[in-house]
Amino acid sequence: MGLWHLSKRFFGSLNPLPIRAQDVSWAHAQLLDGEQALWDRMRRQDRRHSLAVAHRVDEALGADAPREVLAAALLHDVGKLDSNLGPFYRVAATAAAKVAGHDMADPWASTSGVTRRIGLYLLHPQIGADHLRMAGSHALTVAWAEEHHNEPDGGSVPEPYATVLREADDD
Ligand SMILES: [Fe+2]
Ligand SMILES: [Fe+2]
Repeated sequence: MGLWHLSKRFFGSLNPLPIRAQDVSWAHAQLLDGEQALWDRMRRQDRRHSLAVAHRVDEALGADAPREVLAAALLHDVGKLDSNLGPFYRVAATAAAKVAGHDMADPWASTSGVTRRIGLYLLHPQIGADHLRMAGSHALTVAWAEEHHNEPDGGSVPEPYATVLREADDD
């Protein structure tokens, strides 16, 4: 992730405007009850990002967009809610993973305080997948949360959905 990208994400996350009611109801309409409860707990910047991704997926697939694919777009980053990191520490977490390597996520997650939260943040794909399993999500929704930062090849989400979801996710 480049500097431009990081700073765009950082400043974008400071947007103080509430999410529009019509966007909230659109999101809820795509989600199961347990998924709605999870989505509502996400930080506003994550809900805003998830809506942008889901709208792009909806546009790309049109009327053929399956509910579980839109749910995957809306909830792929749901695992971030455990670390509860604000924009500043998110940039720090991304930088730390670059320097120390992503393998540090597990050991960091076993510490306490800020390093634990950074570790949890870096593990958000696995943590999110776990939340979604417990919420009764469709297997595709769970799989996308778990695999959305993996290399494009070898995932379990079928085409064209994996590519559409990947291209719609701009972080
Ligand atoms: Fe993510
Ligand atoms: Fe994302």
